[in-house]
Amino acid sequence: MEIKLKELKLNNFESHQDLTVNFGEVTKITGDNAEGKSTIPRAITWSLYGIDTFGSKLDPTPTTYDADETLVSLLLDVDGIETELGRQLKKGKTKYLINEVPSKASEFNEYLDGLFTKELFLSLFNPLYFFTMHWEKQRAMLLNYVTAPSNKEVFKELPEAQAAKLGALVKKHSLVDLNKIHRDNKNKLDKQYIAAQSRTKTLKEQLDEFQTLVPLPSLRTELKIFSKERDEIQEVIDLAGSNNSKINKLQSQIQRLQDDRDFLRTNFERIKEEQIQDHCQTCKQPLQGDALKAVEEDKQQRQDSVAKDFKSAVAERKKLEEELAQLEYIDVSEQLQKANELQAKIAPIEQEMQKHERFEMVKEAVTDAEQQEKETLEQLNESIFILDSIKDFYGKEAELQAKKVQDLFDRLSVKLFEQQKNGEIKTTFVIQMDGKDYLQLSLSEKIKAGLELREVLSGQSDIVAPAVVDNSESITKFKQPSGQLLMLKVVEGKELEVSVNE
Ligand SMILES: Nc1ncnc2c1ncn2[C@@H]1O[C@H](COP(=O)(O)OP(=O)(O)OP(=O)(O)O)[C@@H](O)[C@H]1O
Ligand SMILES: [Mg+2]
Repeated sequence: MEIKLKELKLNNFESHQDLTVNFGEVTKITGDNAEGKSTIPRAITWSLYGIDTFGSKLDPTPTTYDADETLVSLLLDVDGIETELGRQLKKGKTKYLINEVPSKASEFNEYLDGLFTKELFLSLFNPLYFFTMHWEKQRAMLLNYVTAPSNKEVFKELPEAQAAKLGALVKKHSLVDLNKIHRDNKNKLDKQYIAAQSRTKTLKEQLDEFQTLVPLPSLRTELKIFSKERDEIQEVIDLAGSNNSKINKLQSQIQRLQDDRDFLRTNFERIKEEQIQDHCQTCKQPLQGDALKAVEEDKQQRQDSVAKDFKSAVAERKKLEEELAQLEYIDVSEQLQKANELQAKIAPIEQEMQKHERFEMVKEAVTDAEQQEKETLEQLNESIFILDSIKDFYGKEAELQAKKVQDLFDRLSVKLFEQQKNGEIKTTFVIQMDGKDYLQLSLSEKIKAGLELREVLSGQSDIVAPAVVDNSESITKFKQPSGQLLMLKVVEGKELEVSVNE
């Protein structure tokens, strides 16, 4: 887009009561001090935005003479289409005109916003304006027109391992998110790794406690000998046990049969001495014949039954006594004592063998802990690698972007990033010319720096716009900018004069 100034008409604008300026490719405005040279570009920015050439709000109402209203008309040519913009200030009220048609402020501003932003126009128009903005605004405006390097371009500059790792990860997460994830991971894993290390250490210390173990084979041999001996003795004890308990059982059975016998004997004697009941129990008459005989037979029967039981109890007892006579009580107290002595020897061996079992368990735990430690370290290193790769990515990205931007300039050097002490990249914006900061430059140097900067902006934004060089008498030589040039120059003793040079 090419914007050209065609004609500017001033009515009661500051010191100019009535002035018309026609512009050419180069428009020279000369005159002595205070002749009204700088008022001309100021009227241009005022007509567009109501501001001076540095962006400050401006009231151009004349203070040295009476005037009803202030009016500025600016005829612009945008890519061959002419538009006349007018701004009128009357009794503190602003009115807008587009091609002499009264318009709303919003319509007027919409037209301008369709062309460029206020900041971009001022930066192109006044070479000293750009540097008056906050550095972040300066940086943003410049980078707005420089495409950032793509991930692919940056990956090419990274070591292969880093590029491959990040290339795979960015398919799922942004670098910003990856940074958050792995910073969090690293914090967690740092702690986990310390814990894993201390666990391994503790377990290894436990292993040291098993250093004085008696070798397992000799323990097994000893245990085998003692157990064999003990088992043999135990067999004898068990055998004796069943023999002796049989004796005990027989003895108690014999005792019971003896008691039965004594009871039956007493019973027999009692029946024998019983008086026969030879009188009827109810009528008290003496029993006769069969009745008496029945009573006598009953007594005899009972006596026979008891005698029979008595005999079988005696026979049973004799049989058991014969059985008992065959058996002999075996004394195993000696064997029991020996068995106890052997057990006392076996117990410590078994304890020693249990120590071996515990030793194996601890050994296994150490292996597990070492594996855990190794895996944690691997994960930790992975996160550290990713974090470092991201840092390097940002570093390379910044480098590439800085180079891209720097390549646009000739005398100016532009610093977009700086590395902090912790290695992280921080944004900054420092412009230098011949190694000197902008603020250190002389007026002519500032103008030259501004002209170079606005050329880059013009080239990158693809907008060709007019530029003003005020106080051009202070510059001996400068490169002519693209677009129209308004050159203001003080000439002693001269009235205001505008001359056009095609
Ligand atoms: N609102 C105003 N009303 C009347 N005169 C004003 C107003 N504002 C500024 N002036 C005066 O207009 C005159 C022209 O100012 P201008 O800045 O255009 O001068 P100049 O030609 O650029 O001078 P120099 O060579 O010193 O830069 C000055 O005397 C200034 O004081
Ligand atoms: Mg001036």
